[in-house]
Amino acid sequence: MRHHSIQPQRGFFPQPVYLIGTYKDNGEPNFALITWVTFCSVEPPMLMFASRGKKLTRELVEKHKMFSANLVTSDMMPVADYFGTQSGYHQNKCEAIHVDTFQGSSLAVPILKDSPWVYECALVDVIEKENSSIYIGEVKNILVDETIEDVGYGKIDMYDLDPLIYAPGKYYNISESIGNVGFSKK
Ligand SMILES: Cc1cc2nc3c(=O)[nH]c(=O)nc-3n(C[C@H](O)[C@H](O)[C@H](O)COP(=O)(O)O)c2cc1C
Repeated sequence: MRHHSIQPQRGFFPQPVYLIGTYKDNGEPNFALITWVTFCSVEPPMLMFASRGKKLTRELVEKHKMFSANLVTSDMMPVADYFGTQSGYHQNKCEAIHVDTFQGSSLAVPILKDSPWVYECALVDVIEKENSSIYIGEVKNILVDETIEDVGYGKIDMYDLDPLIYAPGKYYNISESIGNVGFSKK
């Protein structure tokens, strides 16, 4: 392979797809599609996401100091795309696309009924950058689809979760697992 240099840009591949949930002051749930998201601590477990520009989600996370992070399945793609292209400032997005939600078990954050794996997070830190912020949340609870039997670390089958994957401009699903971690040592 021969390489050439290109201008620094925000292309980054692949990206996980989560819907970050918050409650508005009037009690309506709101979700934003966020793909700049990753785990960042084990003890205690922490998750972080980055958000740039003016967004209702940023205001609500900063105000209420909590959020949910709902894994998006490939079936949820139309819902996710809507939440990622419409702002909740002037509409009730959940009502507009008819999604069912309920309140988290540990925190007052909205949970999407169709998401099989959801983190309830308490905001512990915000790192400010030029036009964006990194929000770090401590995971207080994880809500998992009851039909998933073995939730042990490394045991979850991605086919059960069927996560949507994002790479700039396009959504993908996963095709197959091609190895277990550590196989090269054997
Ligand atoms: C595929 C996709 C990925 C996105 N990823 C992010 C992201 O990582 N961070 C972010 O701030 N906004 C991201 N957005 C944009 C927000 O989801 C969008 O601005 C949303 O309308 C914000 O809603 P709100 O104003 O109700 O919070 C993404 C949008 C799409 C379509």
